[in-house]
Amino acid sequence: MSGSYKIDNSLIPNHIAIIMDGNGRWAKSKGMPRVLGHREGVKTVREITETCAELGVKYLTLFAFSTENWNRPEYEVNALMTLIVNTIDNELKNLMKNNIKLEAIGDISALPSKSYNSLIKGIEDTKDNDRMTLVLALNYSGRWDIVNAANMLAHDHAENRLDEKDFKMYLSTAKYPDPELIIRTSGELRISNFLLWEAAYSEFYFTDIKWPDFKKESLYEAIYDYQHRERRFGKTSEQVNK
Ligand code: FPP
Repeated sequence: MSGSYKIDNSLIPNHIAIIMDGNGRWAKSKGMPRVLGHREGVKTVREITETCAELGVKYLTLFAFSTENWNRPEYEVNALMTLIVNTIDNELKNLMKNNIKLEAIGDISALPSKSYNSLIKGIEDTKDNDRMTLVLALNYSGRWDIVNAANMLAHDHAENRLDEKDFKMYLSTAKYPDPELIIRTSGELRISNFLLWEAAYSEFYFTDIKWPDFKKESLYEAIYDYQHRERRFGKTSEQVNK
């Protein structure tokens, strides 16, 4: 079932987060407009979402639109927003069939109303699904989330001292476990303002494959690689292997 990579089904990450990078370069390398790379990228979103659900991953977070992406040319921003609406509308049936819950992190109130409304409908319609949660990071950045949490905290706890657990409760990711595995496609070796707090002990997997070409087998390879690492959380190798 897991192709040429023998995945240990007892060690599947609970939460995988992905920086889907390389759509533009994929399109350029084929002499096509960047926007077609994003459209192709949606096919990968579908394949990777279904594969994660099949493998028993409980949370899949996809970096679909960052706070900084507003700085792209207006036509590309508009195309991405339209693609997001269309994808949510078109995939809703599939999400229901696969029992997948849709959620979002980020300042979604600033999205164009059409995108916002589709998203809210998708979230509402899928809220009782419980096989896997697909979290779309939209108008999201890790620093935005931390500052947003700090503002809410300052309001609620003017006189108390807080610990890390209290702080996490104010992040938009409060209800999700931290990702064990963060994948970035297309050869860039950066976190780019994604899940800054949550990535504290994540394993990183970088691949040169561009997002539109990142298929089922590529995900198996990433999980296989993850399963062969030693996660020490600041302890020694001897302590973890006791
Ligand atoms: C990065 O490639 C990709 C994005 C900024 C957008 C990804 C969004 C989608 C695939 C649509 C997803 C929609 C839903 C509803 C999940 P890039 O443009 O930065 O590529 P480049 O680095 O080669 O220019």
